[in-house]
Amino acid sequence: YPILAQQNYENPREATGRIVCANCHLAKKPVDIEAPQSVLPNTVFEAVVKIPYDTQIKQVLANGKKGGLNVGAVLILPEGFELAPSDRIPTEMKEKLGKLSFQSYRPDKKNIIVIGPVPGKLYSEIVFPILSPDPTTNKEAHFLKYPLYVGGNRGRGQIYPDGSKSNNTVYTASVMGKIKKVVRREGKGGYEIIIEESSEGREATDIIPPGPELIISEGESVKADQPLTNNPNVGGFGQGEVEIVLQDPLRIQGLLVFFASVTLAQIFLVLKKKQFEKVQLAEMNF
Ligand code: HEM
Repeated sequence: YPILAQQNYENPREATGRIVCANCHLAKKPVDIEAPQSVLPNTVFEAVVKIPYDTQIKQVLANGKKGGLNVGAVLILPEGFELAPSDRIPTEMKEKLGKLSFQSYRPDKKNIIVIGPVPGKLYSEIVFPILSPDPTTNKEAHFLKYPLYVGGNRGRGQIYPDGSKSNNTVYTASVMGKIKKVVRREGKGGYEIIIEESSEGREATDIIPPGPELIISEGESVKADQPLTNNPNVGGFGQGEVEIVLQDPLRIQGLLVFFASVTLAQIFLVLKKKQFEKVQLAEMNF
């Protein structure tokens, strides 16, 4: 969940460029982000994050039963950019937003926005309403080209903040040996796998929570770290980036003035040529 990132990491983007969700959401799946190529200052625009997946598939839930996937995302904007306040969002954009409630990553980090978990069936495409800063009033902001980073996830993570595994991942043998017994656990579900260690003759017990399916059976020999179950995870995390220019309106006006002056100069050159041709004609006497 994004809240786990908020609680455990000061900055959601590591120095390597990796977004921290990947530390617990181990599978890689694509995400996509769309944003305008350039925006004017103090303007509301949309960034669209796409977290595609087959919405028919189901994943294992915490209780071992199957259910739909949820999605979530973190959007890292340039300094000065922030979530658009709702009174600035145009009505037609509001319709696209749905009932999502976006949050800042930290109260003092308004340029980092998180969302989720929300049902993936409804929100595999998430529209973020964003307000660009105004460099004339905000000295932090400049008319420059900036990167926007996004991390998007569908499905449950594999690791909890304390380092323990969720039931949405593969379970492996703790020791090398022979599988002595597979016991189905009453009540809670899942299995206990009793392995007779080959070296010491001792027994080790590996507990498999409800969810992953066993791929071994009694009597088989296993190596340490050999998978005892399949990997039930159908979700995954991905990250992407896009560049955006904070455009100075004066530059565009300047460009238009320049184009107009070039056009005028061309017209005057043609007029001058016509005038000169008239003089040539008058000077010609046969
Ligand atoms: C579940 C997104 C960071 C561990 C989820 C779910 C979403 C999500 C959408 C619900 C999936 C579902 O129900 O189908 C994110 C995003 C993150 C992030 C966008 C980064 C901003 C983390 C981190 C950890 C983590 C850092 C580990 C410390 C988990 C676990 C679950 C989960 C264990 C399953 C919880 C359960 O159902 O028992 N995450 N997550 N996530 N996330 Fe994350």
